[in-house]
Amino acid sequence: MLRAKEALQDDRLNNLANRTIMGIGTVPISSSPSAVSKDLLWLRDLIYKASGIFHVEAKSSLIERACLRRMDALEIDELSDYCEYLNSDPRRRMEITELLNEITIGETCFFRNQPQLDALRDKILPEVMKSPSKLALKQVRIWSAGCSTGEEPYTLAMLLLELQQTLLRGWSFEIRATDLNSRSIERAKAGVYTPYSLRNTAPAFKTKYFHQYGDSFDVRDEVRAKVKFEQLNLNDSQRMLFMTGFDVIFCCNVLIYFDLQSKKRVISHFYSNLLDGGYFFLGHSESLFGVEDRFRLVQFPATTGYWKAPSNVKC
Ligand SMILES: C[S@@+](CC[C@H](N)C(=O)[O-])C[C@H]1O[C@@H](n2cnc3c(N)ncnc32)[C@H](O)[C@@H]1O
Repeated sequence: MLRAKEALQDDRLNNLANRTIMGIGTVPISSSPSAVSKDLLWLRDLIYKASGIFHVEAKSSLIERACLRRMDALEIDELSDYCEYLNSDPRRRMEITELLNEITIGETCFFRNQPQLDALRDKILPEVMKSPSKLALKQVRIWSAGCSTGEEPYTLAMLLLELQQTLLRGWSFEIRATDLNSRSIERAKAGVYTPYSLRNTAPAFKTKYFHQYGDSFDVRDEVRAKVKFEQLNLNDSQRMLFMTGFDVIFCCNVLIYFDLQSKKRVISHFYSNLLDGGYFFLGHSESLFGVEDRFRLVQFPATTGYWKAPSNVKC
């Protein structure tokens, strides 16, 4: 049994880039190649049902590497035993969370998409603030959905703190930030970053909103206080119902691994989660074409967004 796992690990090191679900059939992880493929397909379906993330076969090395790391942690040698653990062990729920932590890709940085931030500052906020329903409370609410380790919502907080000196004077704001990955959320709450995360951050923002200790940049408390982090699976329809009353939602570079059905479900929730007149942003390579037609596409300089037209505005 141990030999089987060692062989899989050797194979990972030697030939990781070339492996696919079917290719793993050459690795003696389980008694027969078809059993291995069956286990991996079962895992792929489990991941899909739990998160909405769908891996086509060519991307399966992600699943393999994630499972290997979890099998190492649990000291399980056979993939079939790991499947059994996920299927029937009393700790299965916790283990699914751990597996999803390994599967999700959290690439991000501060000020990742400047045109979106410009659109927010120059077009969206001035428009949203004019809405009669906003004038009573004078509060702006933004959701960063799939926030990874927190760079996106902290960027939004820094931008809005700056705007409280001008456009947002006399207004308050709240930023909710959620992610499926519980480890990313813990890191986001800690708010400690490397220079690489700040590669797009202007020196003035670095000085004003971070404490620097050598190569470590800690988000200052005034920024941290503006962001509420929590773990949330966008595939959890029950919990999605409670995320209401947002003026703007950012869900950037999150739905790229979702299949169409899961994407439609999540985007439909976002539509309901937004206030009338609210805006929605995806990552720059993503679109709602063929996914949801209730939003209106809005062109901003160098970026596009989606608008939830108030019900009294005719399409
Ligand atoms: C590439 S990061 C994007 C981070 C940030 N939005 C940005 O654009 O820089 C994608 C994030 O989506 C999260 N994610 C994937 N599936 C999710 C789900 N079902 N529910 C919530 N978050 C999810 C991952 O954990 C990961 O942190």
